[in-house]
Amino acid sequence: MRESYIARHVAGLKPSGIRKFFDIVATMKDVISLGIGEPDFVTPDAIVEAGIRSMHQGETHYTSNAGLIELRRAVVQYLKASYGVDYDPLSEVLITVGVSEALYLSLSALLDPGDEVIVPTPCFVAYQAEVILAGGKLVELPTYAEDGFLPRPEALRAAITPKTKALLIGYPNNPTGAVATRQVLEEIAKIAEEFDLVVISDELYDQLVYGVPHVCFAGLPGMHQRTILLGGFSKNYAMTGWRAGFAAAPASILVGLARIHQYTIMSAPTMAQYAALEAMLNGQKYVAEMRSEYDRRRKLIVGGLNSLGLPTFEPHGAFYAFPNIRASGMDEETFAQKLLEEEKVAVVPGSAFGPGGEGYVRCSYATAYEKIEEALRRIDHFMRRHG
Ligand SMILES: Cc1ncc(COP(=O)(O)O)c(C=O)c1O
Repeated sequence: MRESYIARHVAGLKPSGIRKFFDIVATMKDVISLGIGEPDFVTPDAIVEAGIRSMHQGETHYTSNAGLIELRRAVVQYLKASYGVDYDPLSEVLITVGVSEALYLSLSALLDPGDEVIVPTPCFVAYQAEVILAGGKLVELPTYAEDGFLPRPEALRAAITPKTKALLIGYPNNPTGAVATRQVLEEIAKIAEEFDLVVISDELYDQLVYGVPHVCFAGLPGMHQRTILLGGFSKNYAMTGWRAGFAAAPASILVGLARIHQYTIMSAPTMAQYAALEAMLNGQKYVAEMRSEYDRRRKLIVGGLNSLGLPTFEPHGAFYAFPNIRASGMDEETFAQKLLEEEKVAVVPGSAFGPGGEGYVRCSYATAYEKIEEALRRIDHFMRRHG
């Protein structure tokens, strides 16, 4: 018998630092979890109804590989109205099983073995693994609080080699809450042009911004032709369980994603596509309500953590706060472990998200206001003992 039947590049992947932690949380009682990476809201009723209605109406079959044309048109309209970017619904939009699938497709379609992908970190935990799964070489580019957790253009330039094929960015950012400024994105665009890179831009949290605009990377001059724009419904509309998202890119690139999707997925879940269509056409009021509640919680948690002596960068997007926990005298793993054991508050060690996350933890505020208040009281007790 072989020692292992699992392919080497798969066996070599680290298990997600988040999962390991939550397996422990699941065995404990009375834990307040600031660890979740998804909305605590349930999907708004009208969106749920649209999904159910479609099934009762017999829409229980595959859709076209690329997804319902009505949904692709709605995505195109949304991108045009929000960011002024133009896509052709027939050849430039693909409905996927969440941004998760879209990420996998993008990297698999772009990379030849050994091609390098630059990924600013800390970032969503799947980015690093997806690059490796697609046969690419991961080049992590740490970012820092003093730069607003955005890449420095000179550091980005320095990371480029003749093997660099793509850059994978995600703003609003999980786990830091950073929103990229137009100025930084324009610097990135200049570099992408100069070195002929494809930019995969994960904009899943585009509608969850607080007092600042979201800038769509594909909308910058010259960027439409070299951007794969990823977006979706999971976070904006509280639809994580439905599993729908999209990729938008020039037809010459999208054709590669569509080919893999056709053979591996066939089409995204049909009832989820009908629900997503309702979200796109009529869901703005729900997003506005949830966004304003997230904003209330954001102010509570950021103010609270800062006042407890845990300096917290002001997040302008998504639903995460990323406090620096060095004042506790612990590293982020020990901090998260002890806070869970001693005060039953779950947070995620920043290093789970890659270099630059050391000395930080991720606290999600996609949890009830009162729970955040109680979590802050518990963290206060903890810091009085350890700070
Ligand atoms: C930045 C980012 N991208 C993608 C995903 C996956 O999203 P989806 O549910 O659309 O697959 C997540 C989920 O946490 C995320 O935070």
